[in-house]
Amino acid sequence: MTTGDRLSALKAELEKHGQSHLLAHWDRLDEAQRAELLNDIEQINFAALDGLIESHIRAEQPFKLPKEIKPAPFYPAKPDIELVGQYADAVKRGVSLIRQNKVAAFTVAGGQGTRLGFDGPKGAFPISPVRNKTLFQLFAEQIRGTNRRYGSDLRWYIMTSPQNDAATRAFFAENNYFGFAPGHVCFFTQGVMPAFSPEGKILLESPSRIAFSPDGHGGALLALKRSGALAEMAVAGVEYISYWQVDNPLVKCIDPLFIGLHDLTRSEMSSKTIPKVDDLERVGNFVIGDGRMQVIEYSDLPDELAHERDELGRRKFDAGSIAIHVLSRSFIERITADEANFGLPWHRAIKKVPHVDEQGRRIEPDKPNAIKLEAFIFDAIPMAKNPLILQTVRSEEFSPVKNATGVDSAETSRRDMNRRVAAWLTAAGFDVPMTPEGEPDGLFEISPLLALDAGHLREVMLTAPTIHRGQAHYWE
Ligand code: UTP
Repeated sequence: MTTGDRLSALKAELEKHGQSHLLAHWDRLDEAQRAELLNDIEQINFAALDGLIESHIRAEQPFKLPKEIKPAPFYPAKPDIELVGQYADAVKRGVSLIRQNKVAAFTVAGGQGTRLGFDGPKGAFPISPVRNKTLFQLFAEQIRGTNRRYGSDLRWYIMTSPQNDAATRAFFAENNYFGFAPGHVCFFTQGVMPAFSPEGKILLESPSRIAFSPDGHGGALLALKRSGALAEMAVAGVEYISYWQVDNPLVKCIDPLFIGLHDLTRSEMSSKTIPKVDDLERVGNFVIGDGRMQVIEYSDLPDELAHERDELGRRKFDAGSIAIHVLSRSFIERITADEANFGLPWHRAIKKVPHVDEQGRRIEPDKPNAIKLEAFIFDAIPMAKNPLILQTVRSEEFSPVKNATGVDSAETSRRDMNRRVAAWLTAAGFDVPMTPEGEPDGLFEISPLLALDAGHLREVMLTAPTIHRGQAHYWE
């Protein structure tokens, strides 16, 4: 089709759906820009967007609270006496699955990281307390450390977005893929959604480009399928996908207990939880809503439920979601089989989106002006058979880097990494100097290639390390 033919087909389509303004600058565009714009517009399924614009952009779809909401049951971080045997079996099973390479590591790294404001993919953010290793390097060393420990050869899948794919791949290439064998780190890109004005008009980022942004971490499910990653996993014999987000350096990328429990209980999608720090902590809440396990966002959980106590005075809804999951490959295959009818619910977010208006003026908003739609991975939980939740300990597994300063920032995450090493050393029987305020006195870092957790450290560090108060120490 010629550009002219494409244009006239699109003109009619845009008019029908009230989006003709997308061609407002056509006459001023050169050939290359026209091609860009046509490509962008042709990616959009306008018919499918119409209903969504009515329900989610022009109006705010109210969250449908289940009629009956109960706390979700979970496996405790520390097994009680009846569970000790099951946990030991699960670890054995998990290790065996890892040894057989039936597990793949999977990081979602397609987000824009606007709150952090770092110039580059978030995974390239330097974070470790002594060596200043980047998030990607820390994960790479953990996966390689796991391979070393269990004699496995696990693959690592990384989801990027069109916005950061090239930069992410370039970062890995510059770093020699952090020692992974060629083809064992696999990248694929997620889908996008346009940003809208509150009236439902799609925004232009420039006269020739639509303001697209990644369609949320929930986009991972379709992206795994469409990219061919799922099919590739099937050929490689991968059954389980160990999922985490790029911004949590404390995550245990490959956890034998978690994987083993997932397998032994025939769960299709499993999740980790931690007790909340306070009633209104900004994390999702695991609940059983009308009989199905699901996550209710902090903003959707009514305050009276958030503050509710049980008969022993404990917080009733205390299971916070930390976005760590194991998913069965067969589960993702099952729910995405009928691709046209698969969909997770859309969540709307009001954000600042710079754009050009119909007159060609560049708008740099100083307050949120646009609506973005994102899908969330945890919305797949209600579709899963036997979904399982495993509780873990915050100081061991969760300290995300979300903000430039304050709560969940690089500073708090680095502090938590330091504290965790100090706790591992102490658990291994070594003395760690402490400040009068109770913080480790010095900077401490252990390479994941040396030890993956406290128990592992005890096995490999047999003599007391020399530690000088107030100094930086690194063990590898
Ligand atoms: P966040 O919800 O924290 O979003 O993502 P973000 O885009 O990284 O940061 P802000 O909100 O702009 O500050 C949580 C995780 O989900 C991934 C992110 O890369 C991060 O690992 N994610 C998010 C995607 O992979 N794709 C998306 O579309 C959104």
